Amino acid sequence: MSTQPGAQTPTPPGAASGTGSASTATPVLDIADFSVAYRTAGGDVHAVDHVNLALHPGEVIGLAGESGSGKSTLAYGACRLLRPPAVIRGGSVRYQGRRFPRPVEVLEQDPEGLRALRWREIAIVFQSAMNALNPVLNVRTQLLDVIEEHLRLSKEEAVERVNSLIDLVSIPRSRLKSYPHELSGGMRQRVMIAMALATDPEIVIMDEPTTALDVVVQRDILAQIVELKKQLGFAILFITHDLSLLLELADRVAVMYAGRLVEVGTARQIHHESAHPYTKGLLNSFPSLRGPRRELAGIPGSPPDLRNLPPGCPFLARCAYGTEACREIDMDLAPVASASDPRHVTACPFVLPETPLPAGGVGRRDAVAAGAPAREERRDPAAGIPIAGLAAPGTAGPVGTTGPLPVGPKANGVHPAPGVGPLGVPHDVATDQGAEQ
Ligand SMILES: Nc1ncnc2c1ncn2[C@@H]1O[C@H](COP(=O)(O)OP(=O)(O)OP(=O)(O)O)[C@@H](O)[C@H]1O
Ligand code: SF4
Ligand SMILES: [Mg+2]
Repeated sequence: MSTQPGAQTPTPPGAASGTGSASTATPVLDIADFSVAYRTAGGDVHAVDHVNLALHPGEVIGLAGESGSGKSTLAYGACRLLRPPAVIRGGSVRYQGRRFPRPVEVLEQDPEGLRALRWREIAIVFQSAMNALNPVLNVRTQLLDVIEEHLRLSKEEAVERVNSLIDLVSIPRSRLKSYPHELSGGMRQRVMIAMALATDPEIVIMDEPTTALDVVVQRDILAQIVELKKQLGFAILFITHDLSLLLELADRVAVMYAGRLVEVGTARQIHHESAHPYTKGLLNSFPSLRGPRRELAGIPGSPPDLRNLPPGCPFLARCAYGTEACREIDMDLAPVASASDPRHVTACPFVLPETPLPAGGVGRRDAVAAGAPAREERRDPAAGIPIAGLAAPGTAGPVGTTGPLPVGPKANGVHPAPGVGPLGVPHDVATDQGAEQ
């Protein structure tokens, strides 16, 4: 792994997006050469390493990757929400929006400047709604709190806004007096979404907003997010383990591995022309709705220890395509050599979309023995407990195991047509296994 500044090539201006406007507009959030580490007694954990990502107005970027790959650290670090032992080691995060026509450098803002950006401009739906909501305040008070803190409205206007927000996320107004523990998981998540939208932000970061929910509620909420985005026009950075979900939801997908982005492309490119072996492995971890039945290969082994990254490609220990030359690469994101769209970029210079899959999949069967430690073995030596962010064994498996969305039952009262995903987007990722969850 290179530690040179600028090691990953910045996303080209007007980076690819499924939306026409997004491909030409100036980014609302431009993350450049951004690095974050956690200082621990056992050494620095390089959770985000020289990442470049540009989010455009109204665009949905999906950020996918295994547990511990640095997704939350990237998102929270970019908003300066991390506490020690996290340190931002370098880079730039520039925000520009309707209310901020000139770009502002988030990393240089004082507390007052950050207050103006957070929530009003960039809102976050956190990974766990139960932990993010205040347990001793009812829903109305929590929504009013946000509105009074960030908007200059009269009491009557604030109450009116609370009512319209709760309507927006389809919760009966009678539940405004409920406390978080009195709500279902789906309702709590909807309250979080209402809170995020309270100030009409330009960007909503959604960190696994539906992972803890059953797939029917999950699908309902996702359909609602899509609808709200259509109405209100905010951009979304959507973080999830579930690549299959992003293929439906996102304009572009960024795949993260060991603190680095390894491939970025439109959802279609990632789905049908994936170039990086890790992306191919993720795609091979869930079944296809159409096409022949095939064995799901998965990716044996686990990501490397972020305190002690090997030189070159961090995926080498698990990659069936790997050779000695992979120890020399610098992890620059570069256009996929055979792709017509230069905005489809990959960190692997050796494998192309058309490169045949090795027998048995892209992962090495001997990956664990080859040096990729099993997840439960990786512990913070200082604390003697598993490093934060790593899933406890058996709780959150590798990408895809949260289960893709089902096609069968209706979402928001509408039955999708066969071959059409729950969000109404045609797809061919599998779906029925998720219904069993
Ligand atoms: N406070 C901390 N101290 C030390 N290491 C940490 C700390 N918080 C996170 N990490 C490490 O940083 C890396 C990235 O963690 P992060 O939570 O960003 O991953 P993630 O991709 O969001 O994972 P998940 O999908 O499980 O939420 C992980 O290796 C994690 O162990
Ligand atoms: S072929 Fe080499 S560079 Fe490409 S992903 Fe595999 S190990 Fe990394
Ligand atoms: Mg996370």
